[in-house]
Amino acid sequence: MSDLRTNMVLGAVLSAALFTVGLGVVTPRFFPDHIPTKPGFAVDIPADIAGPSAKPAAEAADNPPDWGTVLPKADVAAGQATTAICQACHNFSSAGTNMIGPGLYGVLGRQPGSHPGFAYSQAMIDFGKKQPVWDYDHIYEFIKGPQAYLPGTKMTYAGLKDPQARINVIAYLHTLGSNLPVPKPKGGA
Ligand code: HEC
Repeated sequence: MSDLRTNMVLGAVLSAALFTVGLGVVTPRFFPDHIPTKPGFAVDIPADIAGPSAKPAAEAADNPPDWGTVLPKADVAAGQATTAICQACHNFSSAGTNMIGPGLYGVLGRQPGSHPGFAYSQAMIDFGKKQPVWDYDHIYEFIKGPQAYLPGTKMTYAGLKDPQARINVIAYLHTLGSNLPVPKPKGGA
């Protein structure tokens, strides 16, 4: 084999190897590891009938809070600060500008998937047919783990796990042109 040919063969082997290594590095970006563990919408199944795939106790306990109680106490400024993460994709001003994600001014109380000029996923459009309003509970569940909650959503954000941080963000969203009233505290508190 001539030197040139040897070089070509070695070159081909090397690029194949590099390509394979490269794939290993790149692929996880396209196939993020937050594949929903349970398809469909979150449904509260009592732990005793849920079986082995039941959510861990700590997560199961993360039900939406009593908004009438937590909203007046929430830290709106902290919520606004947390939305720095969201601002990579969302605009919060009354201009309602669409970016990677839809403008979020007034999102609390509006129909999911309805902001003009934004190309929503089919999953979000279908969700809006079943759930006509982004209320406190649904935003709380959605931003905790968008893809787990709404498989097929275009919102490729891993989720805001901390319950209090989510409450604060929602309290901030409530100040942005929301038409939803703060409910009365439950249980006569
Ligand atoms: C990586 C980009 C990205 C980040 C970060 C992100 N979002 Fe989104 N968001 C999107 C996209 C894209 C959509 C549209 C989803 C669809 O069509 O399925 C969306 C949709 C939404 C919706 C539904 C809006 C509507 O009009 O129905 C809400 C509410 C929302 N995001 C809140 C948030 C909040 C709060 C944060 C920060 C905690 C956040 N998002 C972070 C990209 C992002």
